Amino acid sequence: MIKIEGLYKAYGKNIAVNHLDLSIGEGEIFGFVGPNGAGKTTTLKVIATLLMPDSGKVLIDDKSIYSDIKGIRSSIGYMPDFFGVYENLTSYEYLSFFGEIAGLERMQLEKTIDELLELVNLVDKKHEMVDGLSRGMKQRLCLARALVHNPKILLLDEPASGLDPRARVQMKDILKELKHMGKTVIISSHILPELAELCSTIGIINKGKIVQKGTVEEINDRVFGASPIKMDYIENEVDVLNFVKAIPSLKVIQHTERSMDFLLKGSERDAAELLKSMVHQGIAVTSFRKMENNLESLFMELTGGEDNA
Ligand SMILES: Nc1ncnc2c1ncn2[C@@H]1O[C@H](COP(=O)(O)OP(=O)(O)OP(=O)(O)O)[C@@H](O)[C@H]1O
Ligand SMILES: [Mg+2]
Repeated sequence: MIKIEGLYKAYGKNIAVNHLDLSIGEGEIFGFVGPNGAGKTTTLKVIATLLMPDSGKVLIDDKSIYSDIKGIRSSIGYMPDFFGVYENLTSYEYLSFFGEIAGLERMQLEKTIDELLELVNLVDKKHEMVDGLSRGMKQRLCLARALVHNPKILLLDEPASGLDPRARVQMKDILKELKHMGKTVIISSHILPELAELCSTIGIINKGKIVQKGTVEEINDRVFGASPIKMDYIENEVDVLNFVKAIPSLKVIQHTERSMDFLLKGSERDAAELLKSMVHQGIAVTSFRKMENNLESLFMELTGGEDNA
């Protein structure tokens, strides 16, 4: 659906995107993660046909950004990382304006606006001024605007930035709904954990290049070669220790009387098999889970943890 090869864009001497390759399939929710200045916005703008690259191939649904801007724009909705100022417009007028630009007929426009306000949870703000909306509401309105022409593909540049935890949850729920609707979505963020649970695939960009792509588990596995797991159990600490010592793919990080953190090489299935055999051995496991905080270290490992700017 989206195919990018050798994308290159420089601003003077500053290389923003450096021979980037990326392909994203239909229905994928792709998390585009990277530190400040990594080239996320630049790449998204190129896909949205708002910025011409210096070189590289970019095909959206087999349409090239060099020859079919109109065709591409009809299938893409773009939500920029900033919200423009639109004074003296209500939410309704705002969406109506963009709907008219997209060429919607009046009847269809009214219906679309109501549906979109419903989707982004702003029905009661329909006739309120845009400037009076909170940041989270503006962001959701901006998302509705990106959807006004019912595009198949959505490009969302940091949709959750600056939102409080509650607003983030709301945004996540909307994104889940979009996934449900079968849209292909690219979401950029500089926070990996934020995207992990939502995205089918993650691409990590650093200094204008994709440095890793896959599910979070796959990337984790490639980078660290093992998954960190936390396990709690009742009693039998010695039994547990003896048991795990005999497993070559397992390395204990730390343990107490009732819990143990360890690294396990292998797939999720291997982890499930391990749990099964421990229970079989009579070890009273009360919880067994992958450690989440590892996402941060994964991100730091891949990007050097510095700004690219
Ligand atoms: N209009 C511009 N003029 C000059 N340099 C630019 C321009 N836009 C971006 N850059 C540079 O290109 C590089 C990539 O910027 P880009 O905005 O694509 O990064 P980003 O990954 O979106 O970062 P952030 O997380 O901060 O949004 C940066 O070094 C930035 O300074
Ligand atoms: Mg950006």
